Amino acid sequence: MQTIVTDSPLEAAEYLNAGGIVAFPTETVYGLGAGICHPEAVERIFLAKGRPQDNPLIVHIARPEDIVRVAGQISSDAEKLARRFFPGPLTIVLKKNSAVPDSVTAGLDTVGVRCPSNPDAQAFLQHCRCPVAAPSANLSGKPSSTSWKAVLQDLDGKIDCLFRGEPSTIGLESTIVDCSGATPVLLRSGAVSMEELRSVVGAIETRDSLQADETPRSPGLKYPHYAPEARIVLCRPHEPITTATGERSAYIGLSTPSARGLSLSRVCRTPDEYGRMLFDFFRLCDSSDIDVIYCELPPEKGIGQAIRDRLGRAASGH
Ligand code: TXA
Ligand code: MG
Repeated sequence: MQTIVTDSPLEAAEYLNAGGIVAFPTETVYGLGAGICHPEAVERIFLAKGRPQDNPLIVHIARPEDIVRVAGQISSDAEKLARRFFPGPLTIVLKKNSAVPDSVTAGLDTVGVRCPSNPDAQAFLQHCRCPVAAPSANLSGKPSSTSWKAVLQDLDGKIDCLFRGEPSTIGLESTIVDCSGATPVLLRSGAVSMEELRSVVGAIETRDSLQADETPRSPGLKYPHYAPEARIVLCRPHEPITTATGERSAYIGLSTPSARGLSLSRVCRTPDEYGRMLFDFFRLCDSSDIDVIYCELPPEKGIGQAIRDRLGRAASGH
């Protein structure tokens, strides 16, 4: 199959409206979308990515008020969060309605809903006739794509169309909050931080505070994620790094690394820049045959929480 690359949100939406699968930019990462009214296109997303069938997809809407097109029930916490953070880098999990097919939610009775703020994403979604189910536009298990080039690297020839936009400004996937139960639960950290969530809904649980015997609330969390081919070693600010001879080493972080013999190094000026560059750097390391990537842990606040989460998973392969 030939993948059409376009700069036109309208042309991209036409492919989607005709039952195709289309990659598009958002402020978090690029998504790979199918209309929820085209279940066979939704199936093709799983094939193109090599994604396990029991991992549900987030549904994207053009306007905050479109939430009623996919949600069955909207709790008052969900309403508050949507009012404050839609459009933006937040996904809210809610009871679904019958417009959302089982292939999107992997049989769950809930659906993750997101309204991106990126102007290209907005323009695209506004031309789409139905809400758009979309995981990140990467091969399953690879770092998410934060640029159109990364999308092509993974998915050229496997998808109908790529809407080519700017690189993602945040570079890490959305914060996910499950609002389908009595108390909201943070399922994945992202650019909307715990502090910001708390300022809107007060009480919010984390996965760690849930009972160990509870079933995982986010099926995707049990799969390996965010893994570059190189080994990831986490380090503290200014911790001396000893590179091994015969190994190609790389570094990313906020402080200048105290190491010799690094093949690649990226010092980021701010935590935001660190988040924006991280997945792109992982991809660069893979294409540069790096064996080990030293990653400095950023302070545990704001976007730093999301960076630490992704680093932890990349280091452990989960
Ligand atoms: O920023 C993002 O969220 C990007 C852009 C494209 O919107 N999307 C994204 O999708 O990161 P994906 O599929 O790579 O990650 C979605 C995560 C998965 O871990 C999945 O299990 C979880 O969201 N998820 C989706 N629907 C869910 C639901 N109903 N209940 C619990 N978790 C859900
Ligand atoms: Mg993903």
